[in-house]
Amino acid sequence: MAGGPSTPELAAAVADAGGLGFLAAGYLDAEAMAGQIAAVRELTDAPVGMNLFAPPEDEADLVAADDHGLADYRRRLEPEARRLGVDLPTSTIVDDDHWRAKLDALIADPVPVVSFTFGLPQPADVAALHGVGTRLVGTVTGEREAEDALARGMDAICVQGPEAGGHRGTHRVGADPDDRPLGELVAAVAEVVRRSRTSDDPTGTTGSTVVPLIAAGGIVDAADVAAVRRAGADAVQLGTAFLLTREAGTSPAHRRALDEERDAVSASRPARGTTVTRAYTGRPARGLRTSFIETYGHVAPAAYPQVHQLTKPLRAAAARTGDLERCHLWAGTGASRTSEGLMSDVPAASVVDRFAAAFDA
Ligand SMILES: Cc1cc2nc3c(=O)[nH]c(=O)nc-3n(C[C@H](O)[C@H](O)[C@H](O)COP(=O)(O)O)c2cc1C
Repeated sequence: MAGGPSTPELAAAVADAGGLGFLAAGYLDAEAMAGQIAAVRELTDAPVGMNLFAPPEDEADLVAADDHGLADYRRRLEPEARRLGVDLPTSTIVDDDHWRAKLDALIADPVPVVSFTFGLPQPADVAALHGVGTRLVGTVTGEREAEDALARGMDAICVQGPEAGGHRGTHRVGADPDDRPLGELVAAVAEVVRRSRTSDDPTGTTGSTVVPLIAAGGIVDAADVAAVRRAGADAVQLGTAFLLTREAGTSPAHRRALDEERDAVSASRPARGTTVTRAYTGRPARGLRTSFIETYGHVAPAAYPQVHQLTKPLRAAAARTGDLERCHLWAGTGASRTSEGLMSDVPAASVVDRFAAAFDA
């Protein structure tokens, strides 16, 4: 969980509890990423993975900003910037999140597992990472992306459903994300894996899933685990369930919003609920509803990372001043369901234990 929630402490606590802890390299340069790896190695000997934002393969995703109505969006946001006392960037910022430098660093100093969202690494980088013994996980949001992940040699596939908190990992920025619920997506991707397995196997006798499927999105209790297991998932990936843990680096504003949401739901008071929006970053992402989303969600252009860079000063100021209506409050659908997993300040190990028990049930 890039942007703060994932810390070395959280990844180490999850790993020590028997989960596969992950660090987040998104928004960090290679040096900062290396710092996170060094910190986690101080904390645990258990394997910990690293997650990267893959840059778009299709140049069309990086077309001139004005094509996406970015200038218009900037004009609309100016009053917000004035209110918060910040300046919006005057030029369009397009970056690749230090992709090359981070891959090179992970090849030079390997970690056991690297996962990708927003796309996949190129074949040469897959080979280089495999060459240093790293297992690779590709995030997919539908069958086509799953086929690409298999063709690219991913060792496991993370199937991310529409319930997931944070960004949807669609490989194309402009793609309308698949709305089928996680269970259906997992079953559909399991079928893709089975078919590819059968076509690789002339005897046709195996049919077993060799590329494990990890289900992600809205999983907060044992019933959610059972449902995705039935659909064909081998493992689950949790984000929201860890946001309020002691070890998470979730900002105070974000924690307050999640606390308020849980308390409102528990007391049957009106709650924010979650929704998917491009308002903050230009990519679809699920978070708690805010007035920023209500006002700008329908006009935000599909331009990532341009919109992310444009709204960054606004969001930073809002988080600093605790202005929840202008913060991005990423959360999955589970945040609006009463759940023990969203209790404040619990140790991450207790969350892992609860899910391990659900898995074994
Ligand atoms: C605050 C937050 C940040 C996230 N950041 C990332 C990220 O950097 N990379 C990534 O692959 N997924 C990211 N995700 C998505 C998670 O990997 C996962 O798909 C999602 O949390 C699962 O849904 P859940 O939040 O309902 O458990 C993020 C999710 C949240 C809530």
